[in-house]
Order: sequence, then C-alpha cells, then structure tokens
Amino acid sequence: MKKIVFATGNKDKMREIREIMAGCEVEIVSMKEEGIQVDIEENGTTFEENALIKAHAVAKETDAIVLADDSGLEIDYLNKEPGVYSARYMGEDTSYTIKNQNLIERLEGVPKEKRTARFVCAIAAVLPDGEDMVVRETMEGIIGYEAEGENGFGYDPIFYPDGYTCSSATLSREEKNEISHRGKALRSMKEKLKKYL
Ligand code: IMP
Repeated sequence: MKKIVFATGNKDKMREIREIMAGCEVEIVSMKEEGIQVDIEENGTTFEENALIKAHAVAKETDAIVLADDSGLEIDYLNKEPGVYSARYMGEDTSYTIKNQNLIERLEGVPKEKRTARFVCAIAAVLPDGEDMVVRETMEGIIGYEAEGENGFGYDPIFYPDGYTCSSATLSREEKNEISHRGKALRSMKEKLKKYL
C-alpha cells in the first residue's frame, strides 16, 4: 500500500486528513510517526511557498508521498494582514483572546461591507520522483464586531463565514470541515493525488 507522510504534528489535522482520505488505498502517517524531525524555517511570502518549503524539507527524509499545509487569515481592510504571519501575529505566545480583540479594535468604525476576510489554506504535495503540486482554497467571510463561540481555534471566534450569522467558532467540527479552507483544500488535493495512489 502507498504511504503519505503529512508534515504536521497536529492531531486534529491528522484526524481530518484521515477522514477525508478514507476510501483511498493509502496509509497516512504524521512526520512524527514516521520518525522525521526537521527544523523548517517558514520564510515564504505566500501560503503556497510555505507549504512547498515544508513538503520539500520532509520529502528529503522519506520515499513516501509528502503533504504539507499552510494556512492563515487575510483581512482585506488591513492589507491582507495577518496573512502568512497569522500564527506569529502579536507574538506566538500571545493568546488568541488578545489577538482577536486587537483585530476587532483595528476595525473599529469600519462598515460591514469593508470587513471582508478569508481563511486560506495551501496544501503542497511532493511525489517520490520530486515532482510537486500545490492547491489553494479559501473560506470567505467577514470579521465580526465581537468574538463569539467556543469551538474551533485561533481566529474562529471573530470570523463570520458568508451565509452565516454566527462565527466559525460556533460550528461543529463536521459543519466547519464542510465549508472550511482546509477541508476544501484536502478534498481538492485528494482528487489530484488519486492517479498516483
Ligand atoms: P497553520 O498553518 O495551519 O498552522 O495555521 C496558521 C495560523 O492560521 C493558525 O495558528 C491560526 O492562527 C490561523 N488559522 C488557520 N486556520 C484557521 C482556522 O480554521 N481557524 C482559525 N484560525 C486559523
């Protein structure tokens, strides 16, 4: 059976990819389960670049197919900040309660139609012969006037997906996976990978 190594240590991401790839004849392991440890500097300027950097770094250590993802939040009014710096915005150790409050304050007085934002997810694949490919998907929405909800993580409490009057932190895991940037990108990568499995 073919093997895919996913360049993440995040258990939720591993669960999501296993759910989405169910039905494919493929074994999916995390880089940790594969015994791969690499220090990766995510110094790309786009989500696609960072996903490719991670996937190629891990691909040097294995003959399996490697997948890596990079994601974040783009707020149009803030020139697409925090973007690729989403995890590092205001410092890695700053709580998301503070980061989310800060973003709401920076949008004070900004009308709804100018509060457009999106979560972006790029997923890169490197095949055993070194060929690579990358997909990018988004979940469009707006930044709300206040934070709400306990589900999800990161910027979910302030992000209101298009067509919803509640934040993505109020959605169940299944509801969010249906419409999320990461869910869509994983499904799109699954289609691209099918001919290699
Ligand atoms: P990563 O590349 O998946 O580690 O995501 C980078 C950062 O983007 C996270 O630390 C979060 O700040 C933000 N982010 C990415 N996806 C989401 C999401 O689905 N909800 C909330 N925040 C997210």
